[in-house]
Amino acid sequence: MHKEIPGMCKMNKLTEDMVAEDLVTVTLSIAEILTRTEIAPLDKVTVTKSSKISAIDKVTVTISLMIALLPAALMAQALPEKDAYVHEGVASCAASQCHGSAVPREGSGVFQNEYVTWTQNDPHSQAYLALGTEESAAIARRLGIEDARTADLCLDCHADNVSSKQRGERFQISDGVSCEACHGGAQNWLATHHNVPAVTHADNVAAGLYPTDQVQARAALCLSCHLGTRDKFATHRIMAAGHPRLAFELDTFTELWRTAGRQPHYRVDADYGERKSAPGHSYTWGAGLIADGRHRLALIMGPAFSGDALFPELGLYDCHACHRSMKTVQWRSLPRHGGAGPGVPFINDSSFVMIVVLARALDADNADAVASSVTRLHLAGSRSAAAIQAAATELDAELRRLQGDLSEGRFRDRERQILAEILDFGAAGNFLDYESAEQAFMAVQMLVFELRDDELQAEIDALGDALQDDERYRPAQFARLLEKFAVAE
Ligand code: HEC
Ligand code: HEC
Ligand code: HEC
Ligand code: HEC
Repeated sequence: MHKEIPGMCKMNKLTEDMVAEDLVTVTLSIAEILTRTEIAPLDKVTVTKSSKISAIDKVTVTISLMIALLPAALMAQALPEKDAYVHEGVASCAASQCHGSAVPREGSGVFQNEYVTWTQNDPHSQAYLALGTEESAAIARRLGIEDARTADLCLDCHADNVSSKQRGERFQISDGVSCEACHGGAQNWLATHHNVPAVTHADNVAAGLYPTDQVQARAALCLSCHLGTRDKFATHRIMAAGHPRLAFELDTFTELWRTAGRQPHYRVDADYGERKSAPGHSYTWGAGLIADGRHRLALIMGPAFSGDALFPELGLYDCHACHRSMKTVQWRSLPRHGGAGPGVPFINDSSFVMIVVLARALDADNADAVASSVTRLHLAGSRSAAAIQAAATELDAELRRLQGDLSEGRFRDRERQILAEILDFGAAGNFLDYESAEQAFMAVQMLVFELRDDELQAEIDALGDALQDDERYRPAQFARLLEKFAVAE
């Protein structure tokens, strides 16, 4: 599924292939990824219990009750980069009887060849190596850094850059975005986690395994590098030194990455559903968008956004608001900009825009309130950094409310409705900016896949083509394609 990703992404041409399990022996570059369809949407949500809640006094009882009542997904979990465990290194996972099998193992719950998949096809295994290229050397030079391979500024996202005392004997920084960069330090679960069924997934999580199956936890993990955090961020300064622009959507990126190899990283089947949370695509998309939106707002509310500089952190703005040809005038007053005139650069609102569309499709009570808050954020943009931050706080409260109401069930059989809402919104010309068109593309692709409507594939391809070059994006053409799309439906 998830075929083509627009100009932003190196994983350009994806060809769909319906082969299910067997190994396909073709050589694939990242640029032509074979994708598989093997999704068993399950509503079952395994709730991870926090082992830390031992209720003694009344206060603790109340708090732990509150925590127990919260969806597990909303519980804050230390990211692998911030956990308290020793990271044992990829070599500790790579033995052939563990995760280094050459081919998927029969009769095992997991493939056991994750190491091979990761080494051969996962971009994350190349993330450290990417810091050794001429491209990175040039970025480093412009930033006045001696070597990107030793700079925390780069290693924080391109490797498992935990503190030296957390690095086990077999740990190597050159492993890049390693198993434990996503699954958490294995110190307390390495020796026991394969003991299935005596040791459950919940036991592993209690021992420090990061709950990558939980949609909120996964969003926080991926976003920590694909958008950034307060502690590590691909700033406008880094971008201007030559770093590629970052874009993200949880479901699309999960699928692109999961199926990047000849063998998927994991497979969601009945057995998986017994053990773990297995959210469907549309829910992953929706929950991922809200997580993305809130994550952005947290960055806007944070100290790095305004600082003392003349300009706020431009990495959080719509890049194409400033970086676009002067010979074309695309500006048009959009309702969400609340009457702000031409020449005003806007915060990158691509995830907020999609959230508004989603909220409308789901008939969420606060859809209009979210939309007005987005407008207030834009209007605040021509006042002051403080005004932006106040508006961000307000919008975040709306998103939190929406997040609280979101459940897998609300997405069931709503794909057509959500798709129609996106198409209408787009046909009306609202995807004027490349960033939101890119988000719309990823959403439409995911929904068409969910609807299993092969007829629409040519139109998906046409949409993807229209986005190939972000600097030559033509909004009117994109709007026409969406309009046509709606007709074909
Ligand atoms: C906030 C996290 C973050 C930081 C900080 C960061 N990067 Fe990246 N970098 C990424 C991500 C994510 C990608 C992949 C982007 C994509 O393709 O969607 C990437 C991609 C790249 C690429 C392109 C890789 C390729 O295979 O073509 C280079 C080169 C690069 N980064 C170098 C650097 C250097 C040098 C630094 C330090 C100055 C740095 N990065 C800092 C997250 C980061
Ligand atoms: C970019 C993040 C990332 C990296 C790097 C990564 N994984 Fe995963 N892994 C995930 C996610 C996300 C899932 C799916 C959610 C889940 O099952 O927890 C997963 C699932 C798995 C599963 C579970 C399959 C199942 O059926 O339960 C295994 C086993 C696994 N990974 C092993 C590895 C090993 C070994 C490595 C290193 C060679 C590795 N992973 C690297 C993110 C990652
Ligand atoms: C520790 C930081 C980190 C984490 C966590 C992380 N990534 Fe990445 N990711 C990167 C970097 C860096 C690259 C670029 C690697 C390169 O090209 O050399 C990348 C590349 C990718 C790519 C390829 C993009 C392209 O343009 O080719 C996809 C897809 C991706 N990541 C998905 C995910 C998903 C899904 C998650 C969460 C399950 C995740 N990543 C978690 C750092 C991270
Ligand atoms: C408010 C306007 C504004 C926004 C928004 C903005 N930039 Fe910039 N950008 C600038 C300015 C001003 C420069 C400096 C131009 C120069 O060096 O002459 C610059 C420089 C750059 C350069 C170096 C260009 C060169 O010729 O050296 C790159 C690359 C870049 N920005 C990327 C981005 C990306 C990616 C984003 C979005 C995350 C972004 N910019 C958002 C105004 C902006």
